[in-house]
Amino acid sequence: MDARAAPTDLVLEVNNIEVVYNKVVQVLRGLSLAVPRGQIVALLGSNGAGKSTTLKAVSGLLALEDGEVEGGRIVFDGAPTERLAPQQLVRRGLSHVMEGRRVFEDLTVEENLVAATYALTGRTGVAPTSRNFDDVYAYFPRLHERRKGLAGYLSGGEQQMLAIGRALVAQPQLILLDEPSLGLSPKLVEDIFTIIARINAERGTSMLLVEQNASVALAIAHTGYIMESGKVVIDGSAERLAADPDVREFYLGVGGSGESRSFRELKHYKRRKRWLS
Ligand SMILES: Nc1ncnc2c1ncn2[C@@H]1O[C@H](COP(=O)(O)OP(=O)(O)OP(=O)(O)O)[C@@H](O)[C@H]1O
Ligand SMILES: [Mg+2]
Repeated sequence: MDARAAPTDLVLEVNNIEVVYNKVVQVLRGLSLAVPRGQIVALLGSNGAGKSTTLKAVSGLLALEDGEVEGGRIVFDGAPTERLAPQQLVRRGLSHVMEGRRVFEDLTVEENLVAATYALTGRTGVAPTSRNFDDVYAYFPRLHERRKGLAGYLSGGEQQMLAIGRALVAQPQLILLDEPSLGLSPKLVEDIFTIIARINAERGTSMLLVEQNASVALAIAHTGYIMESGKVVIDGSAERLAADPDVREFYLGVGGSGESRSFRELKHYKRRKRWLS
């Protein structure tokens, strides 16, 4: 097929952005990526590469950490984001599921979902009512079973489900997912990634999926980017990346002498780091 024939409809376009924290620490250096509407795009890379920073730049949460987009441009659903507040982006259909499953632990599961509707006030097309919870419970029956229980008592996997469920309440066009696999058993990772793929396939929701677990992310993604030190170093279709010898050695932990730099090692280090902090 002639690649020029069909211009791709992009739900998100990040063009050459520079991000600086505290006016001095430059973390992103000319980062560009695109999410075609209806696709899952994986954003991979090791600790400190700037993956979470990229998502915060897109959702407008950088300001909370004294970070700033100093150059380049971000366009969500056809509109430049620079003048839009985070809550305006949510109303326009952008949801950010942050790293570490931020749920309100002292509220019940259902109250967490209700809280997610508050951000939608004034949005046309999505009534902030409990009706939207049926969709969430259909994807995550476990949350329905636990809906009257405090979120703080959920298991790690259930909290991740709730974090994704909270995003779904807004019926978003694009979900930014920051390491949904973190700290979960392989079985739960598989369950959650299967549901992410189903949400994408059934609802057409686009996803920008940040992961250190490159193999599970590439298994459900259409395309992917690998970033190092604040910029993209390799990109391509998920199949091409999964077959790339460098990706296999450094991010999938197979082949070559990549043992010590494998994903598993990095992940282990990271969990230890969090445990100590
Ligand atoms: N609020 C902040 N202030 C200053 N520096 C920050 C801040 N947040 C992140 N950084 C720095 O920016 C760099 C990228 O961090 P970021 O969290 O984006 O990386 P990441 O790719 O998500 O890493 P990880 O896999 O560990 O989650 C790191 O060097 C980090 O120390
Ligand atoms: Mg991160």
